[in-house]
Amino acid sequence: MGAAFLLSAVSGIYLLATDGSLWHLALSHAYGLVLIVVIDVVLGTLNLLARRSVYVPSLAAAALGFLLQAGDIVTAPQYNMTIPYFARYLFGLPGYDALLALQATVIAAGVFGRSYASYLARVRKGRRGKQFSYARRDFVKAFAAFATVVGGAVLAASVKLPAPQQQGTQTSTSSLPNGAIANVNQLQVGSPVYFEYPSGYPNILLKNADGTLTALSMLCTHICCECSYDSSVNQIYCPCHGSVFDTSGRVLRGPAQTPLPSVKLSVDSAGLVYAQAISGSGPCTP
Ligand code: FES
Repeated sequence: MGAAFLLSAVSGIYLLATDGSLWHLALSHAYGLVLIVVIDVVLGTLNLLARRSVYVPSLAAAALGFLLQAGDIVTAPQYNMTIPYFARYLFGLPGYDALLALQATVIAAGVFGRSYASYLARVRKGRRGKQFSYARRDFVKAFAAFATVVGGAVLAASVKLPAPQQQGTQTSTSSLPNGAIANVNQLQVGSPVYFEYPSGYPNILLKNADGTLTALSMLCTHICCECSYDSSVNQIYCPCHGSVFDTSGRVLRGPAQTPLPSVKLSVDSAGLVYAQAISGSGPCTP
């Protein structure tokens, strides 16, 4: 159990170090994972020192770690993805798979180890039994204690901070009629307008050098992190795993493989720009 805990901690550290989406898209999950790593290191060490008193807390921590990691999958809608798409992404991460397998190994080692110890105690009558003391109530108590600690960290990290401002000059959209995104006469090349369409989904409106307009979703088609526009190179960049798109939405660098969906626009006689529909597909479901 000790070795599995320590290897699980290594997997968690690897995941935290290599998956940028944890920090950009799901900060609360990142903080929860940091705590799981700390608990794994402490329990792994105590188990290797053969401290029998940590047997029940170890089972409880491994059960909680397994449930939380597997439960990540059902949070997909919170990040605008479908559950099957997010599950495919998570199971494609070696660190995630190793973490799940090792937490399951701790549980299996604990359960089978206890059965084996009970068997030895039975067949070697006359000697004091070596069973691990296991009371369901102790398990529940330990599980609740770990859940409170990890849940507290997750909740603290879930507090909504004001969204960071997009970089670069932005065209002001105040004083527009309801529903209008911009006025073409006020748009300038290199000065984007950010808008939501539909509500809650970030997009960017750009005026091109030839005077035409482009509106794109700002949710990366890899796993829906919000991208940034870099006016110095006129490209759209995803902070999670480094995908880069040009201002027509085309992928310039992966891991994203699908172009950014575009927003169909209409312009009325007063030059007011309205979003009409989303065109193109991706994993980020409106
Ligand atoms: S979410 Fe992974 S590159 Fe954008």
